[in-house]
Amino acid sequence: MSLSWISPAERIQALPPYVFARLDELKAKAREQGLDLIDLGMGNPDGATPQPVVEAAVAAMQNSSNHGYPPFEGTASFRRAITNWYNRRYDVELDPDSEALPLIGSKEGLTHLAIAYINPGDLVLVPNPAYPAHFRGPLIAGGKIHSLILKPENDWLIDLAAIPDDVAKAAKILYFNYPSNPTAATAPREFFEEIVAFAKKYEILLVHDLCYAELAFDGYQPTSLLEIPGAKDISVEFHTLSKTYNMAGWRVGFVVGNRHIIQGLRTLKTNLDYGIFAALQSAAETALQLPDIYLHEVQNRYIRRRDFLIQGLGELGWNIPKTKATMYLWVPCAEGMGSTDFALSVLQQTGVVVTPGNAFGSAGEGYVRISLIAECDRLAEVLQRFKQANICYSPDAMLSSADIT
Ligand SMILES: Cc1ncc(COP(=O)(O)O)c(C=O)c1O
Repeated sequence: MSLSWISPAERIQALPPYVFARLDELKAKAREQGLDLIDLGMGNPDGATPQPVVEAAVAAMQNSSNHGYPPFEGTASFRRAITNWYNRRYDVELDPDSEALPLIGSKEGLTHLAIAYINPGDLVLVPNPAYPAHFRGPLIAGGKIHSLILKPENDWLIDLAAIPDDVAKAAKILYFNYPSNPTAATAPREFFEEIVAFAKKYEILLVHDLCYAELAFDGYQPTSLLEIPGAKDISVEFHTLSKTYNMAGWRVGFVVGNRHIIQGLRTLKTNLDYGIFAALQSAAETALQLPDIYLHEVQNRYIRRRDFLIQGLGELGWNIPKTKATMYLWVPCAEGMGSTDFALSVLQQTGVVVTPGNAFGSAGEGYVRISLIAECDRLAEVLQRFKQANICYSPDAMLSSADIT
């Protein structure tokens, strides 16, 4: 029996189409044809997890006390490692029992927070473009999204003054993320002060995603929302070990901040999962205690790639400002081309995978995101292929949509 009469729940059907799906199909086809793909699509770090973390995981796996269900709320020692790390990094005191919660990656927590706090019809403010979990989570929960359109002329910062008073009054939650995926924009401390004042005025829960806390360059240090006095009253902040420690596959993240909000998320998760394998929590503790030299290695790798690619794309006509953080370049499409057409065209003509900006929301149209997840010799190959295929940022030598099959 096909079961074709059973359709997915409306909350799944209501999700916007997944732009990655068409890209995946074409990637598979290109691989079948033996094309040497260079995949700069996902934000999936290519480096190895630091050796001390791998060794800590192996040792912890040998310990049978780690083999059972872990505590729902995470191990006490990982929670302590989180709050110690947080205190060292941002000079903010947090209670490990109530103000920190380990997550099976931050995407899991960002989405489950929406399910824990958003009722059908609740209004949620979400930047556009944004990391997809920031709007897909609220949509799954039945929330109504009010897009905060980000613009290059405002350095991709949220324009709080442009939010209508009635919208702000009705809003329940505001998701945001600086340093930003996908735009790589950063926000000054004053912006964080303003958004805290805004949220207090309108009684809105702030959900900040500080995924790129440590992928910051040239002396720039991203602000944590909880550094702002009074922020803890109205906010939570999500962190991940995926990017900083090359641990994307391990699925370890955490949320810190307001204890009541964390309690709601914990209650939901108690009904859904058992948390992270205890041996991995033990290894994650080791990661958070690594000396800064490990961070500098990771940062220097991205700095090298960023500089190399910005210089090379510059020679092809793109004028991309130096990014202060993240592992991405946010690149305007060849003139006159939409994001999807441009990304597909680049893939078909060069075998290079980039992510269409509209995967992050309608305001990402006209851009593609390039992840710095290959070494400079591969990036040199990317530039060479672009040159050969005449992919450049100049109105005369553009690809046209008609070239796309
Ligand atoms: C802004 C942002 N938040 C969260 C995540 C997901 O992180 P995790 O691996 O912890 O689920 C990503 C991954 O790309 C991201 O860019």
